[in-house]
Amino acid sequence: MLAQPSPEGVSAAVARPVAAYPARVPLLRAAVAQVGASLLVLALILTIPGVFDGNTSTMAVALAQGLVAASLARALGMEPWWLPIHALFVPGLVWMLGLGLSPLYPLSAFCLLASIYWGTSRTRVPLFLSSQTAARAVADLLPRRRCFTFVDLGCGFGGMLDWLARDRPAGRYCGIELAPLPFVFAWLRIALRGGACRVSWGNFLELDLGHYDVVYAYLSPAAMPGLWDKASREMRPGSLLISNSFLIPGVSPTRTIVLGVQDDAKLLLWRM
Ligand SMILES: C[S@@+](CC[C@H](N)C(=O)[O-])C[C@H]1O[C@@H](n2cnc3c(N)ncnc32)[C@H](O)[C@@H]1O
Repeated sequence: MLAQPSPEGVSAAVARPVAAYPARVPLLRAAVAQVGASLLVLALILTIPGVFDGNTSTMAVALAQGLVAASLARALGMEPWWLPIHALFVPGLVWMLGLGLSPLYPLSAFCLLASIYWGTSRTRVPLFLSSQTAARAVADLLPRRRCFTFVDLGCGFGGMLDWLARDRPAGRYCGIELAPLPFVFAWLRIALRGGACRVSWGNFLELDLGHYDVVYAYLSPAAMPGLWDKASREMRPGSLLISNSFLIPGVSPTRTIVLGVQDDAKLLLWRM
């Protein structure tokens, strides 16, 4: 079980405001590629007579823009999976407009996806949610009566916090989330339920993990080496790091709990 937290540690963790993340625009390079390609194609049409004549279809121009956008994205160092998105973005819009659909549909879809996957191109941690089996297994690791502090790094829609706060009400819970839409959802969910639980908008890299008895992370393989560096610097002796599914390269867990819902679903525990 967990080491006894000091009363000062508990109140500091609950009272301390989490630094708001200075949100940079993660899609800036994508926007530069798209706008740059549109301007280049436009300049081509205006300056070189006959490149695109009156018979050239809008779709042909859109495909040319897509090719230039993909090339620009590559030149800007974007990862290969971005290239088909760049190549097909404007042709897709032209196709939709040809069907008579309002441009508000693709714009809304774009805004929705951007607000869910806000930092994914940078953090390489997409949104997927812990199962109830995982939440139950985490609850089994927490004290029933004794006070403790818990943080969910990248809390998504706040499901894990909500479940634990109901099942283990002695705890003080904190979640931090980078993506705007999941953050708003989690914040509302937690605000409506009340209790010793709060959610902040921000980057967990700016959070001091030394305030928590239990740190829970369901991230991705790409995030684990950085998380371990941070956890081993900041977490207190006796505190517990739990990773849902993802190993830390070269660091054996103190314990592994197989969840049994999927082949690779497990909790990996490191006692600090
Ligand atoms: C796989 S989901 C897990 C959601 C939730 N913890 C759960 O278990 O259901 C990972 C979440 O972490 C968020 N995230 C990734 N990197 C982050 C960072 N540096 N700071 C805050 N949140 C981050 C993502 O936006 C995503 O919502």
